[in-house]
Amino acid sequence: AGSTVDQLASLVQGFSIREAEQKYPNCHPDTNPFDLYRAHLTNVLTKVTGVDASLVYPALQWTTGLDKGDLILATPALRVKGKKPDVLAAEWVAAFPADDPLVEAPTVNGYFVQFFFKPLPLLKYTLPLIQQQGCHFGDNKALGLRDAQDPSKGKKTIVIEFSSPNIAKPFHAGHLRSTIIGGFLANLYAGAGWDVVRINYLGDWGKQYGLLALAFERYGDEAALERDPINHLYELYVKINKELAVEKDQMDALKKEGKTDEAAKIAETGLDEQARQYFRKMTDGDAAAVAQWRRFRDMSIVRYRDTYARLNIVFDSYSGESQVPEAAMEASAQKMAELNITEESEGALIVDFSKHVAGKEGKRLERPLVRKRDGTALYLTRDISELLSRQERYHFDKMIYVVASQQDLHLKQLFKIIELMGYQAIADKCQHINFGLVLGMSTRKGTVKFLDDILRDVADKMHEVMRANEVKYAQVENPEATADILGISAVMVQDMTGKRINNYTFDMDKMTSFEGDTGPYLQYAHARVCSIERRANLTAQDLATADPNLLNEPHAINIVRLLAQWPDVVQNTLKTLEPTTVLTYLFKMTHALSSSYDHLQVVGSEPELLKARLSLYVSARIVLNNGMRLLGLSPVDRM
Ligand code: ARG
Repeated sequence: AGSTVDQLASLVQGFSIREAEQKYPNCHPDTNPFDLYRAHLTNVLTKVTGVDASLVYPALQWTTGLDKGDLILATPALRVKGKKPDVLAAEWVAAFPADDPLVEAPTVNGYFVQFFFKPLPLLKYTLPLIQQQGCHFGDNKALGLRDAQDPSKGKKTIVIEFSSPNIAKPFHAGHLRSTIIGGFLANLYAGAGWDVVRINYLGDWGKQYGLLALAFERYGDEAALERDPINHLYELYVKINKELAVEKDQMDALKKEGKTDEAAKIAETGLDEQARQYFRKMTDGDAAAVAQWRRFRDMSIVRYRDTYARLNIVFDSYSGESQVPEAAMEASAQKMAELNITEESEGALIVDFSKHVAGKEGKRLERPLVRKRDGTALYLTRDISELLSRQERYHFDKMIYVVASQQDLHLKQLFKIIELMGYQAIADKCQHINFGLVLGMSTRKGTVKFLDDILRDVADKMHEVMRANEVKYAQVENPEATADILGISAVMVQDMTGKRINNYTFDMDKMTSFEGDTGPYLQYAHARVCSIERRANLTAQDLATADPNLLNEPHAINIVRLLAQWPDVVQNTLKTLEPTTVLTYLFKMTHALSSSYDHLQVVGSEPELLKARLSLYVSARIVLNNGMRLLGLSPVDRM
């Protein structure tokens, strides 16, 4: 991107980009406009205040709104003693050099010094930068390097486990949220230059899969399985579970009547026992049983793949509870026994955390089972071995589990056991990203079962909404496909609007509306800029000669101020790990965009003015597109 930035840096006497990069942490003025301003202001302010750059640089903070400036300095953060903060602020403002090339004369606001960027240099710098970087504007590949000074040392690796549904069971709201949030986090870290390993840890093992195989033996339909494995397996699962429930009721009734012999007979020969035996065959490696189960698994994965592709998600690995080797669990069990982490309790093995972790925390972690009386491993046991094997396989620098907050305790127990096993360093690299519930998630056809059903239903609704505007609808080339994409955007944006931990209500009408902060609104904003671009029909070269002097209206200036923030927004998102950080910004930016159209007409303006304004809009479209893709949305060019 060199040239424009170098040009701009040359506006500032003695400013060197190389020097700024070396002097300040993660400072890259050639990809992040704010880094140039922070570096420049720090250079100036160290002289004005006499305070060391290491304190000044991080003290330059974002503002809460454009009316408060582009950057502010919190006076107390410089830790100058002996004078009141507002007095210091006034002194520094007075001593600030007149006619700074990049920023207006600073102003005092309470304890803060406010800086507004001068519009012209900002436009000159930011618009070409955005256009040159294109789909990479906002990336910060240097963050993922093991050693920022020496790229040959390679990238950091992050493992992100997400989605993780259970075969033959409904794909519920928790899986939906995990998929959306996990996909977003994977994009975020990839943009920051990390190697990302996306793992889907399927629920695909346990007695219930023995039961499923029995159901297939009895009622399975090969053609139905081929056609729609996910639904067919689910139907079988529901059917056989009903039978199991009947069996259980029978036994309870018999016991109540004192007919214990008859009850015991059912226990010995009934469905539950048969399922147990079948699953036993699976764990013992019986070829036919394993092959059957593998077919169910593989066929389900083929379907999942298609559905995930609609959300722009590709997994690197379909792991799962079935993939954890017994031998690995045996080894972990032994280690836990040697370290006295586990103990026997009524024939089973448990971890009594109150004996290993002091105080309330030990109580809070409870006493989970790690091995049942009959010797079978549990959910937690598998997670322990799986975690350790991922470390061996990927040598990750960080691992994220995207799992509903209902499993907070489970993941706390998992990480704590890893720590107690002597792997503190590994435990420290693991993080649980949790999220709240989706309330009232049902389609018009009943309760939601699978991701496909959700997406189809929202697409249908979206199609209805689109049809309501007949004139526009007639112009859409492929309404079905558009409705599908808009529907997916609707679901995803609704999910990512609040903080992850908040519950939200699945509201079909609200999410599919073009009004309000919705997915369709973002898509509309994107399509609208694209249409302006098409109609203006200029080349990249035309745009490169755009004259920023013609962009002097407040609307234009506010837009470029917002666009310049994008790389910082991405970096802040790496701290919050909240999709809402991105969405809040995108809505702010698209609101500024829509309110500008009446003031900044493009098509029909003088050629030079048209060029300048289009340059602004193209830059806005690039940022919007990058933001939407970061969230996992597929921006549409027309609708
Ligand atoms: N399959 C599990 C469920 O549906 C989620 C798996 C979460 N990940 C893990 N490593 N335990 O509840």
